[in-house]
Amino acid sequence: MLAGKRVLLIIGGGIAAFKSLDLIRQIRRAGGTVVPVLTRAAEEFVTPLSASALAAEKVYRDLFDLTDEAEMGHIELSRAADLVVVAPATADLMAKMAHGLANDLASTLLMATDKRVLIAPAMNVRMWDHPATQRNLAVLKADGVLVAGPDEGEMACGEFGPGRMSEPDRILGAIAEALRDGPLTGRHVLVTSGPTHEPIDPVRYIANRSSGAQGTALAEALRDLGAKVSFVTGPATVPAPQGVSVYPVETAKDMLAAVRRALPADAAVFAAAVADWRVENAATSKMKKDGSGAAPALEFAENPDILATIAKAKKRPRLVVGFAAETNDVLEHATAKRARKGCDWIVANDVSPATGIMGGSENAVTLITEDGAEVWPRMGKDAVAAKLAARIAEALA
Ligand code: CTP
Repeated sequence: MLAGKRVLLIIGGGIAAFKSLDLIRQIRRAGGTVVPVLTRAAEEFVTPLSASALAAEKVYRDLFDLTDEAEMGHIELSRAADLVVVAPATADLMAKMAHGLANDLASTLLMATDKRVLIAPAMNVRMWDHPATQRNLAVLKADGVLVAGPDEGEMACGEFGPGRMSEPDRILGAIAEALRDGPLTGRHVLVTSGPTHEPIDPVRYIANRSSGAQGTALAEALRDLGAKVSFVTGPATVPAPQGVSVYPVETAKDMLAAVRRALPADAAVFAAAVADWRVENAATSKMKKDGSGAAPALEFAENPDILATIAKAKKRPRLVVGFAAETNDVLEHATAKRARKGCDWIVANDVSPATGIMGGSENAVTLITEDGAEVWPRMGKDAVAAKLAARIAEALA
């Protein structure tokens, strides 16, 4: 299952560290190699010798010396692995990761790695429920960190609730999932999703009916084919997918800036329903009625066209895919849009109210490429996403 795969296992300082010894055994039994790293606190719970003996590898310790650096620098150590696993991930380690601290070997490796990171949290239930830990968890998930557990149950401290580290076999399953090779392994795909909100004043905005469902399903499908996904999302109603890097934005201008930050990418799919105009004279304080019955005069300015900008940019991804939401003459408008925006493909859909597509769970699309138009049957947004992700994988192969 893990043949040829190398896991860098950071063992944090918690009572669950003893389970990590079993995890080492299980990873090896599945054919993988484990390079253990012990934090200083972990050494209070397990010995470097036992980790080293079970892994049959050198153990890297917080108290590393220059000989280690000469043999293998921390940058190289963090990148030689296929996956970095933190088990147990203590509240302290999660906080360091969320804030980018790098003051010991484990946190430095986590900052330096270019590989995916999977954490298996373990801590007292109150520490897990603490708003600080939950905030850090949200940050880590948004950074694309994968999370296994924690489980609910009786804890070493005698309390009951979520916080127990998952059993090694479940963590092994999450490792196998994270390391599953797909046709998009090693590829970076950017996806924009959701609506944008364009402020009128600090409490009001202009928006549209996009739920973000299609973009989210697409990001998940691309992730499942092994891609590293950067997900730039406006304020969507569906939650952002896990295991992808999330860039939350509000306005079209913010979205363009986030897209630029996330580039370069092998492919980019622009599924967001970007507002075409922003309010140029948005007020900095709440607009008030003046008693005369006169409505405020809003002045609009055109927003940047993110798709067209990136399609013409120096860092243009090899494959640029746009969506075309139309209410009439879908094919004609979408074909013209493909040429105008300079993208390779357009996924056209009919969003007239009668279709129920905008904000709904199904989509009926026509894929327009240089070879012409391909009509897909009406299907769930997940199925559209899977089909489109497979086509993207073919195009990048
Ligand atoms: N798009 C974008 N930035 C914008 C507007 C649209 O990136 N400011 C992208 C959308 O994400 C989508 C494609 O362009 O992939 C087409 O969006 P759509 O709203 O259908 O087209 P418009 O550019 O708004 O064109 P029109 O107003 O003529 O329908």
